Amino acid sequence: MLALTLLPLFLSCVAASEHRGGPPRCDISAAKISLPPNQTMLVAPKEGPSFIGLAIGIQNYTCADSGTFTNIGAVAELFDVSCLSGTPEFPSLANIVFSVWDSAPPATGIFQVIDFLAKLKASFVLGQHYFVTSPSGTGISPKWDFTSASLAGHPNAFVIGAKVGDIVAPTGPPDVDWLSLVDAEGDLATQIFRVNTVGGLPPTSCVPGSSEITVKYSSLYWLYGSSV
Ligand SMILES: *[C@@H]1O[C@H](CO)[C@@H](O)[C@H](O)[C@H]1NC(C)=O
Ligand SMILES: *[C@@H]1O[C@H](CO)[C@@H](O)[C@H](O)[C@H]1NC(C)=O
Repeated sequence: MLALTLLPLFLSCVAASEHRGGPPRCDISAAKISLPPNQTMLVAPKEGPSFIGLAIGIQNYTCADSGTFTNIGAVAELFDVSCLSGTPEFPSLANIVFSVWDSAPPATGIFQVIDFLAKLKASFVLGQHYFVTSPSGTGISPKWDFTSASLAGHPNAFVIGAKVGDIVAPTGPPDVDWLSLVDAEGDLATQIFRVNTVGGLPPTSCVPGSSEITVKYSSLYWLYGSSV
């Protein structure tokens, strides 16, 4: 119920914001990321962020021979929430959209939900998050790509990340870890943080040989140091 009450508010806040030609739609140069105290894995940059994206997506896992799930990538859509930074609703945004996403019928695919949200206000889609072959040529790496959405026409408006910090979500499982990454390629950001995660972790064990699973999640991504 909370989700259904707050989602229209979220949409109207974003819709009401002044569009300044490209993201972010509102000034976030003084926005401060909120990170857990007493840890050194995730350290807030001194300068303000370039973008704050609200992600709705899935984490993909495969069952390893050890009987535990291994993350094999993710797909998510990022929405511009710069105009909600500093509002009372901001800390709950990921919880709000996760409630809506989680209550969608099982047969509803991620792309249907994303399409639905995107159609409501197409212009506030920042871009997409997905995995690509690592720049080294081995393994996969996360990519944030705004070249088909808010920064169309800027071929370098993407960043491929390399993880430098990882902590268990302060809210604990089933919320996926909070991360700090630096750029390995692209001009969209020099640093990326995944915070305020909701969902995304797989069950603790699996039967080796069972098929791949996808787990719904939502989070905020803070991107710093853009040169686009
Ligand atoms: C951080 O650690 C210090 C030293 O152990 C402790 O006194 C303090 O209460 C901790 N702060 C928080 C917010 O956990
Ligand atoms: C994750 O799963 C989705 C849905 O099955 C798929 O579209 C996507 O390509 C997968 N991505 C990775 C990196 O496994």
